[in-house]
Amino acid sequence: MATALVPGSFDPVTNGHLDVIERVARFFDRVIVAVIRNPQKAASLFTLEEREAMLAEVTGHLGNVQIEFFAGLLVDFARIHGADTIVKGLRAVTDFDYELQMAQMNQSLSGIDTFFLATSPQYSFLSSSLVREVARYGGDVSSLVPPVVAARLDQRFKEGPPA
Ligand code: PNS
Repeated sequence: MATALVPGSFDPVTNGHLDVIERVARFFDRVIVAVIRNPQKAASLFTLEEREAMLAEVTGHLGNVQIEFFAGLLVDFARIHGADTIVKGLRAVTDFDYELQMAQMNQSLSGIDTFFLATSPQYSFLSSSLVREVARYGGDVSSLVPPVVAARLDQRFKEGPPA
């Protein structure tokens, strides 16, 4: 059974992530969306459970997608879960250097290959960090994220981020 691993912070999941997950799900028997527990970036806006709940809701129509958490090395998680391939979306050339470096490191650590999927052009400018920034200052993110995520962002910035 060909299993793809789609890792990320998903803070929060965007329409760009969803587009990649939907397209990957057409090519693999099973897709594991792996949410990193402790992103190296600044503190998360959403807790792990919130990020997982949003992902589960927006991928609920895809029968071969499951959501998991991981900490530590991605390739260790891949081995434990029987994933043969890591899949990453590439938005622009600016993503490429770092993604290539990670893909080669992961390959040398484990033999697990990374496939890159070109992001659909309408999402090439989209990132979770920009979505957070636009939403923080009251901008309209309804075309950038699924409705459930837009509602959570709205709520989060009304109530203030978690301590
Ligand atoms: O959504 P992000 O923040 O760009 O995702 C980055 C992620 C989680 C894919 C990356 O940081 C990762 O794979 N972290 C796990 C730690 C690891 O395996 N590091 C070595 C990679 S070369």
